[in-house]
Amino acid sequence: MKKVLVTGGCGYIGSHTIVDLIENGFEVISIDNLSNSTAEPLKAIKKITGQGVRNYKVDLCDANKTRKIFEKHPDLVGIVHFAALKSVEESVFQPLRYFHNNLGSLLNVLSCAKEFAVPHVIFSSSCSVYGNADDLPVTEQTPFKEAECPYARTKQMGEQIIGDFCKANPKASAILLRYFNPAGAHESALMGESPSNRATNLVPVITETAIGKRDSMTVFGDDYDTRDGSCVRDYIHVMDLANAHTKCLEYLLGNKNKQNCEVFNVGLGNGASVLEAIHAFEEASGQKLNYKIGPRRAGDVVAIYANRDKAADRLGWQPKRSIKEIMKTAWDWEMARTGNLNG
Ligand code: NAD
Ligand code: WQD
Repeated sequence: MKKVLVTGGCGYIGSHTIVDLIENGFEVISIDNLSNSTAEPLKAIKKITGQGVRNYKVDLCDANKTRKIFEKHPDLVGIVHFAALKSVEESVFQPLRYFHNNLGSLLNVLSCAKEFAVPHVIFSSSCSVYGNADDLPVTEQTPFKEAECPYARTKQMGEQIIGDFCKANPKASAILLRYFNPAGAHESALMGESPSNRATNLVPVITETAIGKRDSMTVFGDDYDTRDGSCVRDYIHVMDLANAHTKCLEYLLGNKNKQNCEVFNVGLGNGASVLEAIHAFEEASGQKLNYKIGPRRAGDVVAIYANRDKAADRLGWQPKRSIKEIMKTAWDWEMARTGNLNG
């Protein structure tokens, strides 16, 4: 079996990706220090796939401990590197923590990839690398604008570091995946996003409001220059996003890549406004949402969505789930996890 190291395997996107990898014949080990997660998703993975996954509770910034895990697993064919801190807001107040964690862990992962000759690396990048793009939809060629926060800068710098690493190591190959707005949950409702702090992302805010954890929610601005005045984003189902990683590994293992460092946008390809997202939720769940229109949120871009032609052409990746399915699975997961919390 082809063995893959997933870093951040207990996190939101990592845990869903492990399911897709196992279902496509990969064996997986994980390194996650549980700084923003628990080991619970590992139980869900076992239930869904029938396979156990070993997680090493190690901080990837610790070079020695990280190296020891690579020593134990000399047969890795690839690394999917999710582990990072991801709060935009927190990064503004704790920039050094973000640079240390997100770049320190990446440097250690790349050093081990080189030392132990692990040929393929997939990196979790973000649409935030584009900043406030001039033209929509953004393609992989759209130039980076100034990063809006230190978190986004760690992704721009992470991409540049991997680009330089690949130039210096022609035998290595990497893919940088620029995720748009991941949302939704596994269809089993056994796992989904479990923010440890109060949610700030739109989809969990919607489901938390519908279930009654909040009295109401606010739409941040309805006076933008968009079709209904609210901001437009590209929401991508987490299982479709998960499958993009599997497709990347298969692409690299099949030597189909044209360069040894390639970049792909991973979005649905059409934007939805905040109000459209709310209406999709109401339709999918049958719940009426208590929302009000409020002022704009500082730092929000007006609209961003992906051109995903490159991922379709080269990787053969096609997202299968619509925004309604995103909302339906997010709602099923919210009901399941709130039920579990309440007893
Ligand atoms: P998450 O916080 O749920 O998962 C990240 C995991 O990495 C967590 O389980 C955390 O404990 C672990 N981790 C962090 N630092 C670590 C370290 N030094 N050593 C070991 N483990 C560490 O986040 P997610 O939403 O699953 O995001 C995964 C990746 O995708 C991140 O790199 C994130 O920046 C990127 N991304 C996320 C989004 C999003 O909206 N969720 C969008 C674009 C890109
Ligand atoms: C979506 C839309 C809000 C909450 C963030 C990061 C980005 C990437 C994805 C990691 C916006 C509106 C939200 C609410 C609202 N992450 N909204 N009321 O800001 O597009 O992107 O996650 O790489 O880097 O910045 O996502 O879910 O916070 O917001 O009206 O209570 O929903 O204004 O238009 P965002 P989000």
